[in-house]
Amino acid sequence: MKTASAAAQALDREIARDYVRFLVDARQTDSPRARLDFCARAQVHPKLLHYNPHIRDVASLFGDASNVERLLDMTLRDYLYYHYYFIHQGYRYGAGDLQQRWLGQDIIKTPWDCWIYQEIIWETKPDIVIELGVMFGGASHFFASILDMIGHGEVLGIDLTLEKVRSINSKRISYLAGSSTAPETIEEVRRRVAGRRALVIADSDHEKSHVLAELRAYAEFVPVGGYLVAEDSLNDVMGHHPVPNEGPQAAAKAFAAENDCFVADRRFAERYILTLNPDGYLKRVKP
Ligand SMILES: C[S@@+](CC[C@H](N)C(=O)[O-])C[C@H]1O[C@@H](n2cnc3c(N)ncnc32)[C@H](O)[C@@H]1O
Repeated sequence: MKTASAAAQALDREIARDYVRFLVDARQTDSPRARLDFCARAQVHPKLLHYNPHIRDVASLFGDASNVERLLDMTLRDYLYYHYYFIHQGYRYGAGDLQQRWLGQDIIKTPWDCWIYQEIIWETKPDIVIELGVMFGGASHFFASILDMIGHGEVLGIDLTLEKVRSINSKRISYLAGSSTAPETIEEVRRRVAGRRALVIADSDHEKSHVLAELRAYAEFVPVGGYLVAEDSLNDVMGHHPVPNEGPQAAAKAFAAENDCFVADRRFAERYILTLNPDGYLKRVKP
């Protein structure tokens, strides 16, 4: 049997890659029309597409039909990589159009964690949600929406800089610029919280030392039955960017080991399995 030369194989791959790029740029699915358009624009003879061994894969990726059958054998790990690069951090990795949004605002979470937050907020009815690390403000907006539906509570978002926040009109949200662990920030939070019951979400700098400092500093605001969350502990497991050797998961474990008022809620908060915060939903069990 005749085999294609290395040069012909390389050309096939290059043409297939260019065709994928064309489909993405032109926001088209694979179709006879798209193939003809591509060949005309790229000056590629249609036979080179028609007989290209890679085109069947391209067609199944970009076809109009659902890919679910093909993807059913994906592992959870593969899925989590997909979600991380295209949905959760799409804005960072050149897939801004695919970025997850809450009512139009970029939100750096997963749908499952948003759902878990909705359940936690409903169960615990916090007076204030303290969000450490706000970035675009999509999550502040999400929390405010849930609080709106419940008719109770407000959001205090803290970030080094509020320049990226896309403001929305919500009476429930206020922001504070500064480092989450700076003594003056914590003092100001104490003043604003004024004894109310908080849900605290640590989602700023993901280095272990910083997260641990946040957990220690903000624990005082969380009532018995409430939650202190170390976000993105999955980074430790998956090696996601930023890739701390020890990140939020190590911090959450160290904190729970030194403070027996908090335990990782794995039965309720991790029951959907897919979470960015394994070991990170720390529930206060003692005063
Ligand atoms: C992962 S983003 C927050 C995403 C947001 N919570 C969401 O879910 O949509 C992290 C943010 O933490 C902020 N940040 C980093 N170090 C910080 C610190 N020491 N204090 C407060 N914010 C910090 C960054 O500026 C960045 O906006």
